[in-house]
Amino acid sequence: MTFFKADGLAINFGGIKAVDGVTFEVKKGEIFTIIGPNGAGKTTIFNLVSRIYEASEGKLVFEDRDITRTPPHQIAKLGIARTFQNIELFEHATLLQNLLLARHAHKKSGFFGELLFTPGVRKMELEHREAVEKVIDFLDIQQYRDTYIVNLPYGVRKVTELARALCTDPKLLLLDEPSSGLNVEETADMAFWIQDIKNLLGVTVLMVEHDMSLVSAVSDRVLALNYGRMLAQGTAQEVQTHPEVVRAYLGG
Ligand SMILES: Nc1ncnc2c1ncn2[C@@H]1O[C@H](COP(=O)(O)OP(=O)(O)OP(=O)(O)O)[C@@H](O)[C@H]1O
Ligand SMILES: [Mg+2]
Repeated sequence: MTFFKADGLAINFGGIKAVDGVTFEVKKGEIFTIIGPNGAGKTTIFNLVSRIYEASEGKLVFEDRDITRTPPHQIAKLGIARTFQNIELFEHATLLQNLLLARHAHKKSGFFGELLFTPGVRKMELEHREAVEKVIDFLDIQQYRDTYIVNLPYGVRKVTELARALCTDPKLLLLDEPSSGLNVEETADMAFWIQDIKNLLGVTVLMVEHDMSLVSAVSDRVLALNYGRMLAQGTAQEVQTHPEVVRAYLGG
């Protein structure tokens, strides 16, 4: 079975190829990381996978299904969730409210069922609450559950962003720079969370990351990009020492 595959993916912005013929496969259960200098096209790949952008060329496959033209809300329903490089939470709602909102947006019951608050809806509501509480326990953020996002330290917001994505029960989790803005200690914690998500929850991770300590600590395989093109693929060690990758980072 093909778990996830991008095949010859490309997109143009006003004549510039932000992503140019990118092909890679993510195996079920692994952590696959995309690295590359600023503007390499990493976030654009995430926007293509979550179908915010329309690919001008190429194909996307998830669990043997062609999702190249699947609408964004359907992508989430199939089990692909993401976090954003710039945290996207409702700042004037509590952590718990944010997670419940994420869960609700993802798993809607019928309009009439909700209107009448039928036993089925009540049961589902309980399931939503339980699922959200499980994620809160898992990421150890109980003490912040009733705090407004705007009042949370940045590092906790990052973990909350992770929690928001986990609340939708993803099979494939897309993490866009999970360590950005974090200090060394928080980055080490983030590495543990990501490994736990893989090992304890069995969620497959596709990650974009700049911090090489995090990349090396968690990645099973790494893909390096520059100017939308693939430079190298392999283990973190192989990719970091690849001459083309070294040259790209040195800007030569
Ligand atoms: N909606 C858009 N319209 C025009 N150009 C865009 C758009 N989205 C991305 N780009 C361009 O595509 C290129 C790749 O951008 P992208 O955000 O994917 O880079 P990145 O690898 O995520 O970089 P960073 O490490 O800085 O986050 C950049 O040149 C960017 O300016
Ligand atoms: Mg980016």
